[in-house]
Amino acid sequence: MPIRILFVDDETNVLDGLRRMLRSMRNEWETAFAPGGAEALALLETQAFDVIVSDMRMPRMDGAQLLNEVRERWPHMVRIILSGHSDYEMILKSIGPSHQYLTKPCEPTLLRRTIDRAVALSRLLSDVRARPIVSMMDNIPSMPTLYADLVAELQRSDSSLQRVGEIIAQDVGMTAQVLRLVNSAYFGLRQPINNPSAAVTYLGISTVTALVMTLHLFQQVPPTIRGWLEIDRNWAHGMRTAVMARAVAECETKDRRFLDDAFTAGLIHDAGRLTLGTNLSETYRKCLEGARRSGVPIAVAERRYLGVTHGEVGAYLIGLWGLPNSIVEALAHHPDPSACVHPEFSTLTAVHVACTFENARHAGTSVEENGSQGWPWLDMAYIQRLGLTGRLPVWRESCEAIMEAAGEEGSSESGTPSPGGRLETAGADDHAAASAARHDGLQRELNRPLSDRTGPSRRAA
Ligand SMILES: [Fe+2]
Repeated sequence: MPIRILFVDDETNVLDGLRRMLRSMRNEWETAFAPGGAEALALLETQAFDVIVSDMRMPRMDGAQLLNEVRERWPHMVRIILSGHSDYEMILKSIGPSHQYLTKPCEPTLLRRTIDRAVALSRLLSDVRARPIVSMMDNIPSMPTLYADLVAELQRSDSSLQRVGEIIAQDVGMTAQVLRLVNSAYFGLRQPINNPSAAVTYLGISTVTALVMTLHLFQQVPPTIRGWLEIDRNWAHGMRTAVMARAVAECETKDRRFLDDAFTAGLIHDAGRLTLGTNLSETYRKCLEGARRSGVPIAVAERRYLGVTHGEVGAYLIGLWGLPNSIVEALAHHPDPSACVHPEFSTLTAVHVACTFENARHAGTSVEENGSQGWPWLDMAYIQRLGLTGRLPVWRESCEAIMEAAGEEGSSESGTPSPGGRLETAGADDHAAASAARHDGLQRELNRPLSDRTGPSRRAA
């Protein structure tokens, strides 16, 4: 079935130009054109569309207002801003209601790639029943403690960019949002930025302040789900997976971009859990309880209950936001990497290994060399297919070394280990844990230059 796209612009010559430009796509796309927000809404009431591409500055109803209404009434649609105005306030205003921001004049290939990618992402959601539900979810909430720390830092008269970057680089939702903004077409970067601290440095304090204080872009995890979603444990798992995924990647490459990809993908790999927990809380709570009771992996229970895994939900969302493909792929397939056709060591490999290693370590399971025995949840068929079984002991040693350097002692049976090796008993104040983590070993490891780190030698070229 062709993709149905609605273009909205108050300038008729822009619409005429789009019509001409898109003529070659007429077999794949069905297009309609509206000269303003009201006309677009009238069309949407009578016809179904998959994608809306709107101008930003229009009389009566601007692009942000229009897309906000579309988000409310037709949440399944992909929402793109195509604007010729390089007005910074306008782009900040559009970041909430739109999935992507493109600038005029837009190359036909870029427009086509953006729309094709968005449509391909919806195919990630293999169970069609899940599509309308997941497409309504458009946020990844933040840790309330880190949010409070960030607000406090931004309100200081001498707020530090480095400190703001450090806080954001510990949080899944904030990391995804700053990467989304910095990689939007507005900035026209030749190479995407994949490191949250670098993104904050690029954006500057005033933009981050606007995102937080004026636009309220960083939503917090609601208090009602914090307990059963085990927010503290999830946060610690994401931080450790990030550091270990980078350590695993460092055994294979010195490429800085690859290492940053591994870190960021490790940090946000479970973003879908936060999104599902916030948007489908009752169903998701039952799903996690079912997984615990029956002992099946969470991803299996998710597919059974919801028709979609947390990996797919996270990948779908950050993919729509335009984050790099390597990170999207790592999120989508980390619970089941065999499903990914990529034949080499990739960001996905590093994240899968780090995530399973962290889970095994947390569960107190001893890790055997060269096998999944004692390293539960590791996809051995995948590691064998890549021809990397022999690298497992090296990766494990590297993960152990980095956790040791961070002062982490390993598993806990009686509580949730927080970074720094402290044990938090269930129900402990997560603010205390997060604040303490600021100075902990993991944070030190994050900031230490790569050349200072010790660990197993890299693979021979
Ligand atoms: Fe994980």
